[in-house]
Amino acid sequence: MKLAVIGTGYVGLVTGACFAEMGNSVWCVDIDAEKIEGLKAGRLPIYEPGLDEIVERNAREGRLHFTTQLADAASACDLFFIAVGTPPQEDGSADLHHVLAVARQIGAVIERDAIVVDKSTVPVGTAELVKAEVEAALAARGKSLAVAVVSNPEFLKEGAAIEDFMRPDRIVVGTDDERARSVMAELYAPFNRSHQRVIYMGVRDAEMTKYAANAMLATKISFMNEIATLCEQYDVDVEKVRIGIGSDSRIGYHFIYPGAGYGGSCFPKDVKALVQMARRVGVEPLVLDAVEARNAAQKQTLLNKIVARFGESLAGRTFGVWGLAFKPGTDDMREAPSIPLITGLIERGACVKAYDPVAIANAQKVFPQDWQTEERLIFTTHQYGALEGADAMVLVTEWKPFRHPDFEAVKRLLKSPAVIFDGRNQYDPEALAREGIVYYGIGRRNRLAQ
Ligand code: UDX
Repeated sequence: MKLAVIGTGYVGLVTGACFAEMGNSVWCVDIDAEKIEGLKAGRLPIYEPGLDEIVERNAREGRLHFTTQLADAASACDLFFIAVGTPPQEDGSADLHHVLAVARQIGAVIERDAIVVDKSTVPVGTAELVKAEVEAALAARGKSLAVAVVSNPEFLKEGAAIEDFMRPDRIVVGTDDERARSVMAELYAPFNRSHQRVIYMGVRDAEMTKYAANAMLATKISFMNEIATLCEQYDVDVEKVRIGIGSDSRIGYHFIYPGAGYGGSCFPKDVKALVQMARRVGVEPLVLDAVEARNAAQKQTLLNKIVARFGESLAGRTFGVWGLAFKPGTDDMREAPSIPLITGLIERGACVKAYDPVAIANAQKVFPQDWQTEERLIFTTHQYGALEGADAMVLVTEWKPFRHPDFEAVKRLLKSPAVIFDGRNQYDPEALAREGIVYYGIGRRNRLAQ
């Protein structure tokens, strides 16, 4: 099949590359000429394991094309995927500006009937707006073509996006149009070889499914973070509780890891957008508000523990931070818990030495330049370099090389007594206590540390 994917961000590029890998001809379109030139030269704008190889091979074999001109793609394609950003507006609601602009561009260039697919995460009712924009642009050209709009949300995890796309738990296709349904069935047929993964539903049902899925996952995390906070007060180890409740198949082990709070490009934005969708129709989002509030509090939890140990003023102190990205396997800094933590430490007068296997280049753009030139914030080239002469180590992102470190080296490098704040519960508090390391986890028996 021949299709266009508009937007070569994270979702668009993975979608385009994976459809090309399945034998389709794909035109990836973006208005950012620099990005398109980079892609043509094999330079990817994002870090995603395995993606560079798929992009390179499919481009070389002529199935994957990059262009800034939608018109170049339009003459060949019947299917148009919209995969542009829907950033939060001031009030948290999704900004549809880019999505609707693309809809107008599609209406301005198509010469035959088309199917438009919303891949971007968009509020319920957006498909109707997209259809209206395409039709208005067609009408302005004196044309009347059949346009169907499908909602086909993505469920890609950063760091595992290729696997998630190629072997998805489910593919949600929301459409009220029979022809669009059969075209989508044909497109996704290669993904259904072991069993049918496509779930068909109405277009509004699909739009809501995306928000409900992310909000449910965010709810699980916030719930567990609240339990962890209680565990600390009652001298309970939340890790035991996690295993205890996860064994119930109705609860399950996924997404109940307490930590330093959820971040990333999806959960914070989508929970906020759903809150706004609720308010817009007069529904008080009681659960969603609580999910957000707990997450905001959770992002302060490491800082609070540090202040509780070292005092409000952290002047003269140095902290070694392990992990900057919002989760392992990505260089994405969006809404990362490391941001409020490092900001809080530096604002209280501390110096921070930080290491991340891939996110340092992005982190350098996030934090104020003067902190970096004045060496209040230093990025190190090695994980142990971040610990040299530090008062404590703070683990924020659970990259694999941090999971089983050389604790002798940690003790040697940190000031004595060695203190670890473990924001992802990677270490065994009792084993560390035996090593003579003072340990603070999330919802662990932190009394051991006193
Ligand atoms: C998420 C969804 O999983 C994906 O389906 C959707 O399409 C986009 O949003 P992603 O943002 O890549 O994907 O991250 P994910 O792996 O889901 O993790 C989100 C955040 O939750 C991270 O900050 C992670 O550290 C945190 N998390 C996750 C926890 O704190 N505890 C957990 O148990 C799981």
